[in-house]
Amino acid sequence: MKRFIDLADFSSEQISDLLKLAARLESHPEPQALAGKVLGLLFMNPSLRTLASMQSGMARLGGTSFVITPGQGTWQLETRLNAVMDGNAAEHIREGIQVLASYCDVLGIRAFADGKDLASDVSESKFLDMANLVENPLINLESAVNHPCQALADWKTLDDLQVPKRSKFVLSWVYHPRALPLAVPSAAAHMAAMRGMDVTILRPEGYALPPAIMERARTAAAASGGSVTETSEPAEALEGAQVIYAKEWGCTTHYGDETADATLRRRHKNWCVDNSWFAKTAEDCRLMHCLPVRRNVAVADEVLDGPRSVVLRQAYNRLTVQMAILYRLLKD
Ligand code: CP
Repeated sequence: MKRFIDLADFSSEQISDLLKLAARLESHPEPQALAGKVLGLLFMNPSLRTLASMQSGMARLGGTSFVITPGQGTWQLETRLNAVMDGNAAEHIREGIQVLASYCDVLGIRAFADGKDLASDVSESKFLDMANLVENPLINLESAVNHPCQALADWKTLDDLQVPKRSKFVLSWVYHPRALPLAVPSAAAHMAAMRGMDVTILRPEGYALPPAIMERARTAAAASGGSVTETSEPAEALEGAQVIYAKEWGCTTHYGDETADATLRRRHKNWCVDNSWFAKTAEDCRLMHCLPVRRNVAVADEVLDGPRSVVLRQAYNRLTVQMAILYRLLKD
């Protein structure tokens, strides 16, 4: 394995291998497996889980890591190609990323969507411009429309909890005061479809996932025997659900237009998952969320603190699956 930037690059057998390796490293730790290896982490955007779990995972395998957060003790990095660099950024990614790559054995990059031009964000041009500068093994720590480490952790969480493959997985839009990126909803829909689940995407009008993202999920479902549908009707979507995966994301009909998005989302403040959402789901329906989550805005305390919530297991599995990814990238 040379790169981990998209679950779609892997067969179901390769995913299964990574999940088995994650479980093996949990039960049989290998504290010297990556001794002498260095992980470089470039965070263009904030993080809690991704940053801490990557560093912890590398340390538990015997390796070390360094973290660069441009503009916070290190030079601000310019990402635009052909930019006239007369603003705040002192260094361009063209030099900066290649310099960082020369100091490490594997590089992880987080670079969120710009949130202005939907076609540009869906094309992943910003992340790919950076990835194309790197010959080292590379990990996508969240790009414009993908979060493969989160998706793999979510897959392991579903397996750990023995959620049946042929069961109803509802990815539901939930309220947030601001437009958030499409990375997690896109990755979660694709992961569940690839796992063979019956995926329903529940979202208000104006928040449909872009056609290219729906097509990716449908292609994965066609190969796995799963299915993908979408609706704006909560009652229809939630009936019989085995999983509700709550996630906030920005309006796609007025993408990049903060005022139009704010006007539209204001009408949907009631899209906060509380116990009433589980009235007609499967009895043991689980609540998933990638975190961070705004309590009593996106998901109510009564759900997050109740037995249905598996959000902490999802966060823990970031560590287990990323150790498997690091191992496959550096050990084999
Ligand atoms: N879920 C996730 O990626 O969390 P962080 O943004 O805190 O890394």
